[in-house]
Amino acid sequence: MVTTHKAHREQLNISMVPDALATPSDLTKAHVEAIAKAVNGLVADAFALYLKTKNFHWHLSGVHFRDLHLLFDEQAEAIFASIDLLAERVRRIGGTTLRSIGHVQALSSIADDDEAFVPAPEMVKRLMDDNRRMVAAMRAAHAICDDGQDVGTASILENLIDETERRVWFLFEVHQGMQTA
Ligand SMILES: [Fe+2]
Repeated sequence: MVTTHKAHREQLNISMVPDALATPSDLTKAHVEAIAKAVNGLVADAFALYLKTKNFHWHLSGVHFRDLHLLFDEQAEAIFASIDLLAERVRRIGGTTLRSIGHVQALSSIADDDEAFVPAPEMVKRLMDDNRRMVAAMRAAHAICDDGQDVGTASILENLIDETERRVWFLFEVHQGMQTA
């Protein structure tokens, strides 16, 4: 059966956890649902930003090629590593997490970037903006964890916020260098 994008989105947002996957937790059901929803959004964003960062790693051109090619790869690796940390955290508190590329698409708030060519400074700017959005989304998820006293997820998010801010810092400085070069 073909489902519409909206129907698909609704279907994937339903937080029904099969009994076999209901990991016991002392967190309340409402908190588990709220935390899983926030963190699953971050998992989807991380998948989308991983691919966008690799896209720019692969389709880069210009005088800054070597530096940016390596920087984008390093950042993509770190983003990729965050996916499993976040998804398994959702499972540890008794939620379910992402299952497919369609699921990523339904939950991600990172816009696709399918342009045939993006100039290098623009790539840096777009990645900086997306990473900034991710920091804000992580901070919002952290507040939801605080509400539910979920210190485990909060502590993972604290490290990931720091890592993401480091990416923003590097991209910001690289972008400034490109403006004045
Ligand atoms: Fe590569």
